[in-house]
Amino acid sequence: MSSSDIPPFTPSEFKYTAPPNPGWRFGQRIEETAEGRAWMEGEKLGWKTIDPSAEDPSKLYFLLVSGIVPRPVAFVSTISDTGIENLAPFSWFNQVSSFPPVISVSCTRSADLTRVKDTLNNIKSVRGFTVNIISEPWIQQANICAIDAPDDVGEWPVSGLTKEPSIHVKPARVKESAFSMECELLQTVDILDPATSIASTTLVLGTIKYIHVRKDMLDERGNVDPGKLRPIARFAGTLYGRVSEGYRITRHAWQDAEPDVRRVVDGGPKT
Ligand SMILES: Cc1cc2nc3c(=O)[nH]c(=O)nc-3n(C[C@H](O)[C@H](O)[C@H](O)COP(=O)(O)O)c2cc1C
Repeated sequence: MSSSDIPPFTPSEFKYTAPPNPGWRFGQRIEETAEGRAWMEGEKLGWKTIDPSAEDPSKLYFLLVSGIVPRPVAFVSTISDTGIENLAPFSWFNQVSSFPPVISVSCTRSADLTRVKDTLNNIKSVRGFTVNIISEPWIQQANICAIDAPDDVGEWPVSGLTKEPSIHVKPARVKESAFSMECELLQTVDILDPATSIASTTLVLGTIKYIHVRKDMLDERGNVDPGKLRPIARFAGTLYGRVSEGYRITRHAWQDAEPDVRRVVDGGPKT
């Protein structure tokens, strides 16, 4: 599809639908639905099996970031020990624990392993940072902050985003973000290049000290409503995705499901 064929972005309401195959029964195989059969057709073309240790690192990077999707994006605000402020997006990001509340962000070095990201240097020296969840209305402002600008060009003024002072950590949070976390460095883990033993990537674990959430994002239970937050998802390269539809699937409890599960697995309930 050429860029002139791509329709414009239109904000849309978050829509709930029924899940795929809503009538699924315990033990039902994928071939029992037309969609499942169509999915398995592709498997007839065979498999490509990759040994990461024998793969070109840049090809491996693109294969992994296109396969491990969709990723959430942490928009990280940091400050250096001399007071230089920094903003950058990171999609090797997730929550790793809720009690204590801990998140992870992973920072790569440059391909020749010489350049460490300012974000990592700042987190290590100041030990505090903020993670701001990006919403569709300000994705452009966040995306520009991945620019490889020289040190004297600050991302805040280029982005047009607004600093909101944090209450526990030194760097500001982003006012436009409807869900921000003030984090304290818990631990860093260096991932070593097997040939040189130099860190190629550093995993940062941060303890969440404060959460700031906009009241209009909350549902009646006090949780964030995805339709209001309008978060973004990241695929490989420059591709972002939308979260505009959702469906619920029952989480079965053994207590209720046991007879039905046993009927399928053992051919009938055990007495
Ligand atoms: C959406 C998006 C996600 C990114 N995710 C990561 C990531 O997870 N890890 C990483 O090291 N760089 C990532 N980058 C690249 C950094 O944002 C980029 O290198 C940035 O300039 C780093 O800034 P700094 O050197 O000021 O810390 C990502 C870029 C974009 C646009």
